[in-house]
Amino acid sequence: MTNIAKGLEGVLFTESKLTFINGTEGILTHLGIPIQEWAESSTFEELSLALLDGGLPTSGDLAAFDAELKANRAVSPQLLEVIAAMPRGVHPMQALRTAVSYLGLLDPQAEETTEEARRAISVRMIAQFATVIAAIARTREGKEPVDPRMDLSHAANFLYMLNGKEPSPEQARLFDIALVLHVDHSMNASTFTAIAIASTLSDMYSCMTGAIGAMKGPLHGGANEAVMDMLDEIGTPEKAAEYITDKLDRKEKVMGVGHRVYKYFDPRSRVLRDYAEVVANKEGKSHYYQILETIEKTVVDRLGSKGIYPNVDFYSGTVYSDLGITKEYFTPIFALARISGWCASVIEYTRDNRLLRPDAVYTGASDQHYVRIEERGGQELQKTEG
Ligand code: ACO
Repeated sequence: MTNIAKGLEGVLFTESKLTFINGTEGILTHLGIPIQEWAESSTFEELSLALLDGGLPTSGDLAAFDAELKANRAVSPQLLEVIAAMPRGVHPMQALRTAVSYLGLLDPQAEETTEEARRAISVRMIAQFATVIAAIARTREGKEPVDPRMDLSHAANFLYMLNGKEPSPEQARLFDIALVLHVDHSMNASTFTAIAIASTLSDMYSCMTGAIGAMKGPLHGGANEAVMDMLDEIGTPEKAAEYITDKLDRKEKVMGVGHRVYKYFDPRSRVLRDYAEVVANKEGKSHYYQILETIEKTVVDRLGSKGIYPNVDFYSGTVYSDLGITKEYFTPIFALARISGWCASVIEYTRDNRLLRPDAVYTGASDQHYVRIEERGGQELQKTEG
């Protein structure tokens, strides 16, 4: 019998030097360095550059990259007009998908697919995702977009453009850590989508527009927003255990837990949990954290033996909420970080490109003949189940 790798599980289609995951021991490294060390000591800018270049940068290289990002922060007024013209009430991920596709129309280099061009476009996109997402958020809320500042870090500038107020150094650092934790994660659905598009020798904007589409689904990036919906639905910590037990009894999925690769704690969720705990200790916020603690306990007790543990999306929302970010923007913020991983992965893959084209086992009808429509009567073509 032919073996089908449903969901492409366990299928190896390329080599990569960027990210390593050991899902049974809960290990994640970028360029061989543990994620905990990146979170503790590095920045979004440094990790992005390290992945694009395949090694830790010198201080000169990092300063040059930072300056390049800053120089590319502003977006065309034409794009802001497009964002303003979007129908009311569209989800920010829909808006981001359209805005990124439009960015490609404004970039004279958009159709170039050499490594040099892909890298130059990557730098622009990494810089501009922040401006675009903040502009989408402000416009949806009936406010004017805020121009980027050139004296702030990527994380601080994003919060400034989003809230119209400079964040405290602690807030900026916390957000930077959250970005670092989300930058790359091997062959997840959105990165794979970006690579599949790139493998046809299509352009970077098409790759990233497709990746946004893949990320937006609730089984992938959309889970962070879904976790917050669930917390709001549960309401109080006392109701959490019963709510989750009922859900599991009904064979429904609990958002923010489970992972295709991790069969133990996702190390990113451990880092975020520590920060969420700090947030939890602040006045008025502790009920979210208490609900999450109860959910974690209930899920791990019941499904830990099946390898179901909290993933990165489980605690991220409580951290974002404390930074004044509402839940519709959690998935766009994921994209804000992951753009660097998407770009680095596309560049790495296309260095030795081969068109991605898997196959399916055909289970449809055979030996059929075309019947003219007027001759079909009640007679139907043999239908296959499923
Ligand atoms: N809640 C309850 N049960 C679960 C969950 C969950 N979240 N996830 C998996 N399971 C159970 C399944 O019901 C299944 O049980 P069965 O063997 O009795 O049928 C078993 O675990 C295997 O689950 P699959 O869905 O086949 O595993 P897969 O690898 O395809 O799923 C996924 C991974 C999609 C992430 C899944 O765990 C899930 O839906 N989680 C909730 C959504 C989520 O949090 N997504 C974010 C992932 S991280 C990220 O993208 C950043």
